Amino acid sequence: MKKQISPGALLSPVPAVLVSCGTVEKPNLLTVAWVGTVCTHPAMVSISVRPERYSYPLIKESGEFVINLPSESMVRTLDFCGVRSGRNTDKFAVCGLTAVPAAGVSAPAVAECPVSFCCKVKEVIPLGSHDMFLAEIVAIEAEEWLFEESGRLALEKIGMVAYAHGEYFSLGEKLGSFGYSVRKKKPAAKPMPSKTQKKPEQPRPFSKKGPAPRKSGHKKPVHKKSGKQFPGKGGPR
Ligand SMILES: Cc1cc2nc3c(=O)[nH]c(=O)nc-3n(C[C@H](O)[C@H](O)[C@H](O)COP(=O)(O)O)c2cc1C
Repeated sequence: MKKQISPGALLSPVPAVLVSCGTVEKPNLLTVAWVGTVCTHPAMVSISVRPERYSYPLIKESGEFVINLPSESMVRTLDFCGVRSGRNTDKFAVCGLTAVPAAGVSAPAVAECPVSFCCKVKEVIPLGSHDMFLAEIVAIEAEEWLFEESGRLALEKIGMVAYAHGEYFSLGEKLGSFGYSVRKKKPAAKPMPSKTQKKPEQPRPFSKKGPAPRKSGHKKPVHKKSGKQFPGKGGPR
């Protein structure tokens, strides 16, 4: 039996990202979990930021920010940037991060994050505790080692971080892929089916079959622009 509790922002898991703002010369960043994709064409995202954050006027006045996806190895940095303010802490310096120019915006990207979404604010919607910045993604920068030979962007290589009810999690095993619940199995090439043969079995929707084995083994990357290694388990303590 389900128990009713008072409404709260409990939707989980969500990504937790590092949002960089300001300029390359005077950068700041904050951790944001109230982030989401809101439109495919044009590609748009939202971030919700409390007006009292140091980053708030930097984003509002410039109309620009960059969403950086951290890897699991950066989870301490992710937490630190969410509990210290740029008002009195140079988070880039303390965390050993590098602010680099980002495509199409004056806000900097975080070199050590493998993927960065460069965003231009289209609308600011005051909601209550937070204001929502609706923004168009004008460019995406992704490390070369994330691309497979086919050109596919293998985001799973990042080792992405999920945030759920105050805690950070790694994503775990792949459970399926888009549309797999209705996808027909490819028929075997031979032999040709006779009229008396049964149809190939359809995939069972919501099968209890276990998850596919995880493909691992990506190389330890070194960032191209900064020449630095991607941060290991250390980070700010
Ligand atoms: C996991 C996590 C998620 C957070 N998500 C948000 C968020 O969505 N919006 C927000 O305004 N603050 C969020 N915060 C808090 C800010 O990141 C935090 O107040 C930060 O110190 C603000 O930095 P600034 O003062 O340099 O702008 C989050 C903090 C953590 C640790």
